[in-house]
Amino acid sequence: MANFAVSFVALSLFYIFQQSNAASASFNVITFGAKPDGKTDSTQPFLKAWSAACSSASPSTVYVPRGSYLLKAIVFSGPCKNKITVQIDGTLVAPTDYRALGNSGYWILFIKVNRVSVFGGTLDARGAGFWACRKSGLNCPVGARSMTFNWANDILISGLTSINSQSMHLVINGCNNVLVRNVRAIAPDLSPNTDGIHVQVSTGVTITGSTLQTGDDCISIGPSTRNMLMSSIKCGPGHGISIGSLGKDVNEGGVQNITLTNSIFSGSDNGVRIKSWARPSNGFVRNVVFQNLIMNNVRNPGPLSSTKTIAPITRAVLSSGVKISQVTFRNIKGTSATPDAVKFDCSPSNPCSGIRLHDIKLTYMNKAATSSCKNIGGTSSGVLMPQSCV
Ligand SMILES: *[C@@H]1O[C@H](CO)[C@@H](O)[C@H](O)[C@H]1NC(C)=O
Repeated sequence: MANFAVSFVALSLFYIFQQSNAASASFNVITFGAKPDGKTDSTQPFLKAWSAACSSASPSTVYVPRGSYLLKAIVFSGPCKNKITVQIDGTLVAPTDYRALGNSGYWILFIKVNRVSVFGGTLDARGAGFWACRKSGLNCPVGARSMTFNWANDILISGLTSINSQSMHLVINGCNNVLVRNVRAIAPDLSPNTDGIHVQVSTGVTITGSTLQTGDDCISIGPSTRNMLMSSIKCGPGHGISIGSLGKDVNEGGVQNITLTNSIFSGSDNGVRIKSWARPSNGFVRNVVFQNLIMNNVRNPGPLSSTKTIAPITRAVLSSGVKISQVTFRNIKGTSATPDAVKFDCSPSNPCSGIRLHDIKLTYMNKAATSSCKNIGGTSSGVLMPQSCV
């Protein structure tokens, strides 16, 4: 017993030593001159704190205390010497004038970083002015994505809230091994292109426990994405969860091994979709599972694979080159806000194949909804309401 106690104390001391050692490399943005008043430009102080952390040989923390910090477009570049934790207890705000972010396309950008964890934080991009510009049809800049990771590996984003992005809230591009958990992305229903999370050219992305209420897709998945898991997502309002649009380019990496499970859609324009352009392409989508989903008053809840047209005339001459196969829809229940709940509109030149429907129960005004199928092959089993057209 005594022996055990001694070794326990020794172990605890060792642990505390390790902790304090790690804590010694902590860089508080305030020490670098950041002002938590929401008005003073803190871009340079944040960059200085980052570069101190990035050149630290031991693991380090960039610490953002409570308060509101004004940041212009900012790039946190790697590679860095060791792992970095960014602990944000405050709110980061973009300049009120949307033109300040200009045509950079990003607001907060991490580039070529490895082993970076971002904990907490609220991002307020104050996108309303930019949306108004877009709606008025004036000459507007491209619009900034709130937080972007480009060419990064081993990333954790936990507990982040992003509100009112100009365009997408969170973008994962060219990354490996990314965990996004307990994230919220919130923008008004009618704000244009404010996707919650966009993932492309990435492998091993997991998104879990997140609430996405936006004016565009809750999650959108672009070309060259594999091994992605989404679970416990609350989506809506917004445009649902989409793979695509794919096939914009002739040469395009495919999307494969994508799973969405245990999620709820409420009042979204769509449930799950696969979208492709009506153009020639070598792109593909395969091995996708959509399962255990609840739809609450969703406009087009069911499986929908649509051919997105560039212009009506193009649609008549060309059909999409994207090949869609091995897609399973299992245990999808709830209510549809439109009669046609399940819609497959596959390309005549590349019919969808290996589509599996199992236990689908979608009602429209307390009656079975309908389904429609074009150019599709597959199987169905279990309870199917609407009746399967597969
Ligand atoms: C599919 O993706 C999951 C992550 O969602 C991964 O664990 C699994 O190994 C992948 N399967 C294949 C065959 O690569």
